This record gives sequence, C-alpha cells and structure tokens, in this order.
Amino acid sequence: MNQAAELAQLYLSLKNDASLGKLPLARSQGDIVPGEGSPTAEILFIGEAPGYQESVDHRPFVGRSGKLLRQVIDQIRLLPEQYYISNIVKVRPPDNRDPTPEEIEAFRPVLNNEIAILQPSLIVTLGRFSMAKFLSDVRISQVHGRLHQVVWNEQHQYVLPMYHPAAALRSTKTKEQFVADMEKIPKVLCWLQEQRETETLQEKVAQALL
Ligand code: URA
Repeated sequence: MNQAAELAQLYLSLKNDASLGKLPLARSQGDIVPGEGSPTAEILFIGEAPGYQESVDHRPFVGRSGKLLRQVIDQIRLLPEQYYISNIVKVRPPDNRDPTPEEIEAFRPVLNNEIAILQPSLIVTLGRFSMAKFLSDVRISQVHGRLHQVVWNEQHQYVLPMYHPAAALRSTKTKEQFVADMEKIPKVLCWLQEQRETETLQEKVAQALL
C-alpha cells in the first residue's frame, strides 16, 4: 500500500471510531478534522487542535491562524508536495479550550501512525502542546527556531519547535519571531539533504573498504 492509501485508511478507521463513540470530543465522523497535504511530504507541521473554521471546513489551519501559517509557507516558497499539516488532537475542543491530557492521549496513536507513514525529514511543532510530544522540560521561549535531533520511536528525528501562529497573531514580537523561525526552514532542508548525502557517501566508503 502506498502512503496516500495508508493515510486514507488511517482516517477511515479514526472516523469509524468517532461514529462508534470511542473518541473524546467526537460525536460523529463529521467531527474529525484530518491531516492534509502531500503523502510524500518532507515536512510535517503539527498544531494543537482544530478551531471553529477548521471544524466547519474539515481542514486543518484554515482559520485566522491558519491563514498566517499558510501565508508564511508561501512566502518561504515551500511547494505543496513538500509539506503535510496535522494536529495533536483531531476534533475541536469546546470553546477552543486547551486539549486535556486524556484527549491528547486518545489521539496519540493516530498522530504516531501519521508520522510513521510520512517519515518526514523534519517535524515543525506549532505551539507548546506539539512541542511537548518531542521535547520535555523546555520552554518554547528558549528553544523556538532551534533545530533539535531527538530519538522518537527508536529513530532519529529532526524537530524544529515554533510558536503557534495564534500566539503570533496576539503579539507583534512573537509574530516577528514566528516569521524568522519559519524563514529558517529552507536552509534546514538543505542542511538535512547534505547530511543524507554525507551519510550515503560514508556508507559507500565503508563498504569499499570492507
Ligand atoms: N490551531 C491549531 O492548532 N490547529 C488548527 O488546525 C487550527 C488552529
């Protein structure tokens, strides 16, 4: 099965769980806001949870903060085939409150499966909830815009934590930092590509020396 089919199947089974009442927040399959983007994306953006507009359109990041995110994505000239956008929690919490630990836990397997299917070169976390999935005991104000290598699911994974675009809409300074951090993405991608090429070369040399 290819990645597109695997993602489709993943969301089919999540919607099924929602209609069976097995998930918090969701009363029917229409409440699920699936991840969206290229199944072969090199970048995975992870937000917090859908808001009102997302719950109406059934698409992540299409409200005010989503417009900012997508505008900056265009500004840094990422192509649609390069990225995928998802959330920690796939259903809108009432009154846009923070997701609870139980809700995050309930949606953890589906996000883990998304990551396993996409195998992104880079995960960009938007806000403290998605950051906390990969980095513990850190403050977003101290680590935003800094590339981290973490061990996730027994594999090395590069993570770039950022402020949530909703926070950027509330403060001019945070918006400047958010945009500056997003502007680092193309350079990070080039660096990751160089790393992969160096590793391949090293493997070839090691094999030749055997
Ligand atoms: N905020 C999020 O974290 N996710 C969305 O999809 C929309 C707003």
